[in-house]
Amino acid sequence: MERLQKIIAEAGYCSRRKAEELIKQGKVFVNGKKVCELGTKASFGDQILIEGKLIEYQEKEYYLFYKPRGVVTTTKDDKGRKTVLDFFDDVGKRIYPVGRLDYDTTGLLLLTNDGEFANLMMHPKSKIDKLYVVKVKGIVTPNEVKKLKVGVKLDDKVIYPSRVKLKRIDKKKMTSILEITIHDGVNHEVKRLIKYIGHEVIKLKREAFGFLTLGSLKSGEKRKLTPKEVKVLYNMAVSETINKKKN
Ligand code: URA
Repeated sequence: MERLQKIIAEAGYCSRRKAEELIKQGKVFVNGKKVCELGTKASFGDQILIEGKLIEYQEKEYYLFYKPRGVVTTTKDDKGRKTVLDFFDDVGKRIYPVGRLDYDTTGLLLLTNDGEFANLMMHPKSKIDKLYVVKVKGIVTPNEVKKLKVGVKLDDKVIYPSRVKLKRIDKKKMTSILEITIHDGVNHEVKRLIKYIGHEVIKLKREAFGFLTLGSLKSGEKRKLTPKEVKVLYNMAVSETINKKKN
């Protein structure tokens, strides 16, 4: 159960304050009954009618998904390719991805029907770390790692990875594996960082988003986030955006 004005605002009908006014003016009906009391609560299944309009309200849902390779991170694809939503046919809600992973990138992707949450997670100021494991062609040198650590200019913005670690090199196959943690959000940022140091990505996987990891999920599997995980992510993002405003 939620306060009626919160439900109305979250459904996008108007602001919470305007909803309070409408309730006081007797313009809100719940299951056919006029409601004028501000403390009144309602739930997702209730029929809410305001000025002749039915309010569409969906319970908020949040998913952690292990995106496979060869899947697009959009809700529809003109070329008929598989989209991440094809893995959510059993979810009767209009959810969408939070940010994007490239067609050939695998790993952790969040999906939700909560627009406010999605915007916060993608906000450049929210500074949530994303950990990528990347396999590249060629042998990456300590000097190239240093070049990434001091920051790289992409789209007029200097990207400072919070951490870059050379994990392994395979001299026979001439490949290297790096872990890169970034909190900025620029398109194709890992591939562009790797290109900047003169290499090419063979495989890219997002292993973590903030404190969330793939855990025991297998490629193509999903799980719901717990209310606590959602709250912690919200708080992380909000505190960063507030700190930035102050500075
Ligand atoms: N950086 C990329 O280059 N691609 C992704 O899919 C994610 C981050």
